[in-house]
Amino acid sequence: MRCQVAIIGAGPSGLLLGQLLQRSGIDALIIERSTPEHVLSRVRAGVLEQGTVELIRSAGAGARCDRDGLVHSGIEIAFAGARHRIDLRSAANGRPITIYGQTELTRDLMDARRDAGAKTVYGATDVELHDFDTDRPEVSYSQDGVQTRVTADFICGCDGFRGASRQAIPARAMQVYDKSYPISWLGLLADTPPVAEELVYASSDRGFALCSMRSATRSRFYLQTAETDQPADWSDDAFWSELRRRLPDDLAASIRAVPSIEKSSTKLRSSVTEPLRFNRLFLCGDAGHIVPPIGAKGLNLAASDVHYLVEALLEYYADGSAAALDRYSHRALARVWKAEYFCWWMTNLFHLRPDADAFETRLQTAELDYLTSSPSAQTSLAENYVGTPF
Ligand code: APR
Ligand code: PHB
Repeated sequence: MRCQVAIIGAGPSGLLLGQLLQRSGIDALIIERSTPEHVLSRVRAGVLEQGTVELIRSAGAGARCDRDGLVHSGIEIAFAGARHRIDLRSAANGRPITIYGQTELTRDLMDARRDAGAKTVYGATDVELHDFDTDRPEVSYSQDGVQTRVTADFICGCDGFRGASRQAIPARAMQVYDKSYPISWLGLLADTPPVAEELVYASSDRGFALCSMRSATRSRFYLQTAETDQPADWSDDAFWSELRRRLPDDLAASIRAVPSIEKSSTKLRSSVTEPLRFNRLFLCGDAGHIVPPIGAKGLNLAASDVHYLVEALLEYYADGSAAALDRYSHRALARVWKAEYFCWWMTNLFHLRPDADAFETRLQTAELDYLTSSPSAQTSLAENYVGTPF
């Protein structure tokens, strides 16, 4: 089998890339390990930067996000029992954010791909990359016991941190910058109204809590937990009562505890792989970098990678020039590292840090105090939160 671009992974990166290429007449095949149902069962973040929304629109998959997405122009920080609003419009570019769950976005991209008649192979096993250091890269996989080999011009690795693409790269050819934090997040999804109109990031002496939402009737909450805690260690009741203890009284009182729909945990880490290109193989999204979840940047970084990569591939197919492909890794990483910094900073600022000494803990309090009282500190947070332009 032959295609122009072989994409490995049908998460948001692979689907968005596939859709944008398809609309420009480039034949892209997506090869995914899981079933569509499994891909859609993963609950992830729900904050879209404006650049991400615009990209989804240009992929022809923005209608439901435009209709149902909640446009917010502020967030709240709760600290020392008080609530502080950060006006996102104060950022230099003044752009809002859109609250729209990643699961919904993935569904929209899947639907758009199906409507365009583009092919996705689901349930692919033994996915392997071959010869990407030559002009004839290939991907092999099995589906229902039948082995297939696909020849492409390029392979795009959109298969996450543990996917086949990163594993195919010889260790000596890449540099990995890793950081792990001794903290996990436990997330809970429930059909209960949001506790506030905007997202609330709460720092307390019992640990961090986040009150987010998916709609006027569905909320998503997170608690900082011990690194090893699993969802089974937390009953719904334990979750709700701990959440109440970490929030200012008025917010705690407005929580309507109902049975959860889903609970999942994530261990916090940062990681960047350099470069993002190995001759005819390009890494995109989580395959190239991971951020801790507090800044909600994972999906937005996947979108900016896709934007740079699509521009480069279109230039190549329009006039044979590889100049933009040569620049892809550098351009994408410049934006990735700024977001890595922002998420690392937010992580250190808001969490109870088991690794911090008493001096650092005092500094953390001073910085939260500064942030919640200084308009210029708030502008800097807002500028990064709404996302640097791409
Ligand atoms: N072969 C084929 N597909 C694979 C393989 C493999 N060996 N390994 C993983 N995959 C698939 C996964 O099943 C998943 O559907 O690749 C996809 C990767 O999707 P994500 O992990 O969602 O990564 P990405 O698309 O880059 O998304 C970036 O979305 O999911 C979030 O945390 C993520 O916020 C980040 C953003
Ligand atoms: C979410 O809604 O899942 C979410 C929102 C904001 C974050 C992280 C996660 O910073």
